[in-house]
Amino acid sequence: MDGRDLVRSMKAVGSVGAAQRVRTVRAAWRRRRADAAGLPARGAERARVPGPVQEVEPGPGGGTLRFSRSELRILVAVNGAVFWGWDGAEPEPSYALAGRCPEPDPRAVLEPDKDGGWRVVAERVTVVVSRHGAIDVCTPGGMTLRRDLPPRWWEPRDGGPARWMQRSEVAADARFFGLGGRASGPRLRGGTYRLWNTDPRRPFGRGDDPLYLTMPVQLVVADAATHLVFHDTSWDGTVTLREGEEGAGSGHDRSGFCELRMDGGPLRCWVVVGTPARVLLAWASLTGAPALPPAWALGHHHARWGFGSEQEVRRIVAGYLEHGLPLDALHLDIDHFDEHQVFTVDQDRFPKLPVLAEELRRDGIRLVSIVDPAVRAARGNAVYDSGVAEDAFVRDASGRLVEGVVWPGESVFPDFTHARVRRWWGGLYAERLAQGFAGFWHDMNEPASFTAFGESTLPRSARHDLEGRGGDHREAHNVYGLCMAWAAYEGLRELVPEERPFVFSRSGWAGLQRYGGTWSGDVATGWPGLRASLSLVLGLGLCGVPYSGPDVGGFDGSPSPELYLRWFQLGAYLPLFRTHASLRAGRREPWEFGPEVLEHARAALIERRRLLPYFVTLAHLARRTGAPYVRPVWWGAPEDRALRDCEDAFLLGDCLLVAPVLDAGTDRRAVQLPRGLWYDTATGRAYEGPGQVRVDAPLSRVPVLARAGAVIPVRGEDGGLELEVWTPARGRTGGGLVVRDAGDGWDEPEIERYVARWEGRRVVVERESEDGVHEPSHPVRVRGLGGG
Ligand code: GLC
Repeated sequence: MDGRDLVRSMKAVGSVGAAQRVRTVRAAWRRRRADAAGLPARGAERARVPGPVQEVEPGPGGGTLRFSRSELRILVAVNGAVFWGWDGAEPEPSYALAGRCPEPDPRAVLEPDKDGGWRVVAERVTVVVSRHGAIDVCTPGGMTLRRDLPPRWWEPRDGGPARWMQRSEVAADARFFGLGGRASGPRLRGGTYRLWNTDPRRPFGRGDDPLYLTMPVQLVVADAATHLVFHDTSWDGTVTLREGEEGAGSGHDRSGFCELRMDGGPLRCWVVVGTPARVLLAWASLTGAPALPPAWALGHHHARWGFGSEQEVRRIVAGYLEHGLPLDALHLDIDHFDEHQVFTVDQDRFPKLPVLAEELRRDGIRLVSIVDPAVRAARGNAVYDSGVAEDAFVRDASGRLVEGVVWPGESVFPDFTHARVRRWWGGLYAERLAQGFAGFWHDMNEPASFTAFGESTLPRSARHDLEGRGGDHREAHNVYGLCMAWAAYEGLRELVPEERPFVFSRSGWAGLQRYGGTWSGDVATGWPGLRASLSLVLGLGLCGVPYSGPDVGGFDGSPSPELYLRWFQLGAYLPLFRTHASLRAGRREPWEFGPEVLEHARAALIERRRLLPYFVTLAHLARRTGAPYVRPVWWGAPEDRALRDCEDAFLLGDCLLVAPVLDAGTDRRAVQLPRGLWYDTATGRAYEGPGQVRVDAPLSRVPVLARAGAVIPVRGEDGGLELEVWTPARGRTGGGLVVRDAGDGWDEPEIERYVARWEGRRVVVERESEDGVHEPSHPVRVRGLGGG
């Protein structure tokens, strides 16, 4: 941005500043009044527990147990997932499930157990229900993974939703992960985590909770097995976790503990047991395969709030080209809108956006547009007018439009829980496509609405369609961003059927991966923010959302050159690799931090481009298997406790272990290795795991280790695909998968399988297919152990 643009942008923000503040005070009062009128105060409540079991009715995959004061339905599905629901709760309707609930496993039957209890024995899991409604989830070998005590409800005497509480115990050695995007993870230590998508309204750090994307999904990793538990209710609630303690063989272990308290909604849950890979596979089969980003979205993105003008965009792009820095996408924030109104363009600052888009496209750079859900409530605003005609906006209990305040001032909010509204909204992307945009960045969809006090979101009494069932914001809030992504995804599929949509969203819920990915939101610039960035990506991946990444450099302020570089180097190995910052933040272009940073940032960008075929492969594998690209180091060995506690490194697919630098002044760092032989990809030096090693981490790069035997698809110097093969340990074989897809269409490329093995003193690489073993169709480069 040149000086004049900056002053103009600041003025635009400043001039609305005072008026906007007044609006947020009014909005806060409105919100309070709406809830006072629309939500009855909670009166006296009656507590309830299930009571003793009285009657049992076997059914497909399990059956129904009738207790004196509740009813429990248990179902084991063919994919091995276990469902149970109290008080008549069934798996559907659910915003998390993709399509229909899976079929029951016909082999799973309900049978009597000891002490008047019952059990369902299935292939991979046994579920034992006690006489009073405690539920144990056990391995086939009989180890208890999780014991859910009988739940408790509090029912308002004069009707209305019951609050409920569910306590569970897990093994003393268990570790908790997930709950959506959490800044303090990836390992979730003791504490209370809220389930309510929240815009923190300022750049967040490690301690801030909740953030934009929460979900009641936990991955619990213990010696006996890994399990995922999903409480399928979108209401507000909290999860209190406490890790267990082992009595060092004294027999006095203290179990791990989890307590879920919800303000309402069905008490129903899914549990999946197995290895991490199996668990994520079943999770993806339940909630949907992760959408495949177009190949270009796996490259480098540059975003900025406040480019301010077409000239500034051209200046940035020219900077990338001049400095030999690869760039694949450029994002335009709200400042390119006409007075911050969604689906408009400021014609003064961006007079010929389609021409700009076309020119950038010729240089291989796609334009991505921010899309906010809030629509300025003003006649003459075409989106408002057409939304009013469609009856698309959220209303309050008395039928008036709910008005909030977002960037464009007084705004209304589409009700994305209505299929008709989703169709209308999806159609609006035609305007964006005509402007030349190729991808969409959903923001402010918690939904955020600025208020001077109270919560910065819609009134809880606001009404939503909820697919015709009807309900209020208490139930719809957490799925608002998910349904907005759904609307965009479906709209884009219709508008551009030949291309894979690219959507990523700040907020969301279980199942978001069906439509796209997410990003960190406004992570605070600082070393703790860098650490939080990794925590978010890992946690979201374990909840089934594999495509995400942080604002490289942090959202606010000015990172030191060292911090910027370390963030850049981490980002280069994360699925969404995007530089972004706030209007008032300092510069974020690699050339703004001096020649040394520029050189090392260039190396990171070039390495990312070289690894692009590997990222494409990982994206395809995520879609087919649910496995995130970025995985905790314990992914393949959850029984290794030292790995379970390692939070500062990650596996990128099966082949690479990335050990980012997360602290200032580091030039060497400890790395916890899983079992097997690992090569430092920079020095070629081999290390034997399991165990901890120290490796060099100079400013020029972060340590990346390759698993011995790995076959990694990379881009060769001529742009063609090459196989980088890391010598297997002596006497061992290795291998890898390759999925080729340079584009953004719907072709289903086949999975190429390679094996690497020793033949005498040579390492040979072959492609295995149904009709035998072949020479690889790509050039092979063997590295490690004298291989170079
Ligand atoms: C929100 C987003 C941020 C964006 C800004 C302006 O703070 O999280 O990424 O730049 O809004 O649109």
